[in-house]
Amino acid sequence: MSEKITIAIDGYSSTGKSTLAKQIAKTLGYAYVDTGAMYRAVTLFAMQNGFIDEVELYKEELIKNLSKIQLRFQFNPDLGFAEMFLNDVNVEKQIRSLEVSNFVSQVAEVSEVRAMLVKQQQEMGKEKGVVMDGRDIGTVVFPDAELKIFMNARPDVRAQRRFDELSEKGQLVSYDRVLENVLQRDYIDTHREDSPLVKAEDAIEIDNSELSREEQFKKVLELVNNI
Ligand code: DC
Repeated sequence: MSEKITIAIDGYSSTGKSTLAKQIAKTLGYAYVDTGAMYRAVTLFAMQNGFIDEVELYKEELIKNLSKIQLRFQFNPDLGFAEMFLNDVNVEKQIRSLEVSNFVSQVAEVSEVRAMLVKQQQEMGKEKGVVMDGRDIGTVVFPDAELKIFMNARPDVRAQRRFDELSEKGQLVSYDRVLENVLQRDYIDTHREDSPLVKAEDAIEIDNSELSREEQFKKVLELVNNI
């Protein structure tokens, strides 16, 4: 494979999409775009501006204010990946909190939000040489991507991974709450009207419940090399 290609990595939450995507991008010298971070940043914006309270999302208010959102990825050489900036503020840490996780699927259901972000994602990937992860990359953002991967794993495995990640960051949550969040997000992601999470017909499915990071990486690299 010599020409640059587009690699779409979609799948369920906490399947390790971003870890794998980052590793592949680094190896190939490609750009990496974490589209979940963009939905998370819009969710944070909604929370900061009172468009989300404890119980609901004030969708119309958010839609009216979408033009006030400016998103940008900025590479951090110390971390080796790009961090998310919302209106010039680094929000990389905040967008990973459980509060944001609890509301992000609702925000991702809003068609106006999706339209805005899909447009930006298509712009970011137009030169190819990009690994993009999300839920609708192979189906909506880049339906012509040369390689499409669909990641899956058992919910209990995914909840445990997420729980370990949050614990490492010092966020005190119970495993049961994390599992509940994982299942709830699965449901909303797969049942929403606009661009539900679905495997593209030509995507290659990887269930990584029993696979190590190294095994997944090798598998995808092999697929890239066979294009
Ligand atoms: O990948 P993640 O868990 O950071 O994504 C956060 C949420 O954003 C997830 O619940 C679904 C939504 N999302 C989406 O609808 N489309 C994408 N391309 C990426 C994420």
